[in-house]
Amino acid sequence: MPSTDQPPTLSAPPPLLDVEGLSVSFGSLNILNGVSFRLAPGETLGIVGESGSGKSMTALALMRLLPRGGRVTATRLQLAGEDILSASESRLESLRGARMGMIFQEPMTALNPVLTVGEQIAETARRHLNVSRAESRNRAIEALRRVGIPSPEQRIDDYPHHMSGGMRQRVMIAMALICQPQLLIADEPTTALDVTIQAQILDLMLDLQDEYHMGIIFISHDLGVVSAFTDRVMIMYLGQVLEEATANDIFTHPRHPYTEALLASIPELEGEPTRLNAIRGTVPPIHDLPPGCRFAPRCDHMRPVCETARPMLIPVGADHSAACIRNTDYRFP
Ligand SMILES: Nc1ncnc2c1ncn2[C@@H]1O[C@H](COP(=O)(O)OP(=O)(O)OP(=O)(O)O)[C@@H](O)[C@H]1O
Ligand SMILES: [Mg+2]
Repeated sequence: MPSTDQPPTLSAPPPLLDVEGLSVSFGSLNILNGVSFRLAPGETLGIVGESGSGKSMTALALMRLLPRGGRVTATRLQLAGEDILSASESRLESLRGARMGMIFQEPMTALNPVLTVGEQIAETARRHLNVSRAESRNRAIEALRRVGIPSPEQRIDDYPHHMSGGMRQRVMIAMALICQPQLLIADEPTTALDVTIQAQILDLMLDLQDEYHMGIIFISHDLGVVSAFTDRVMIMYLGQVLEEATANDIFTHPRHPYTEALLASIPELEGEPTRLNAIRGTVPPIHDLPPGCRFAPRCDHMRPVCETARPMLIPVGADHSAACIRNTDYRFP
């Protein structure tokens, strides 16, 4: 990763996303601790971790859409060079949808059940693109066609509950992409879908990325799916990044025991992860964290020092960092 205190050169455009030290707290509870990464246009970053690791909080903090009471801080939080942290609410509203779009995990909670899918997509187009009612309807039909919904002229007047899970997820993608945002955040976009539909939706996202050259953040608890569909992967646990590398390095040369455990628990092609390979123990509650390494109580390589020492995220290779004491020259007692 390039040094952060160098002045940017005039010729180099800023990265699409530049995030440093992103933290989120609710009162005295720290949910997210110092998350840093960069995303280039056209690049896909995967965020992987078990439930409660802070994946959704990271996404919501980027969009400045945290639930009530959430406080976000960062050393840097920029979208294409623009500071998101100090942006006004009205500026954020125009950025959301127009420059950054989000696909939520459960489309039924994100889609309004009393409006047709066409009304919802057209509304987004009208708000951001300043087009007429008729034109926004046409654009909505085109967007539905582009995401593979058959007979979009008819389906546009359907209500969300008339559609299958896969079709609803396509509607969400159409809505997120109607303004051709530079950044698409997809929070577990396929978890509720069966494997074949999952693959179709992921292929669709990659096709659209080729077309629009957008940066994608793809959130999932399934490291197998993520490493197949992304350029880089960030592994999170209890609000911290434990490892970050290219998808290939994460998959073939993991340097953190948590990543190794996630890899071992990837389900076989069909079916559930075997009990044998599930990560032992459970994620502790965020208000009762172990004092040393957060993963120590569940780690197969745990040493006494891990119960008190807090490992930093350090470079462990080219473009690869991990937060495990195994990667330092610390001599184990
Ligand atoms: N409104 C809230 N107020 C306080 N804490 C919250 C709130 N919403 C979530 N949290 C906590 O924030 C932490 C991170 O949650 P987050 O939803 O980001 O996890 P996640 O990685 O997305 O998990 P999942 O895979 O289940 O979606 C959890 O400990 C959760 O309990
Ligand atoms: Mg989540």
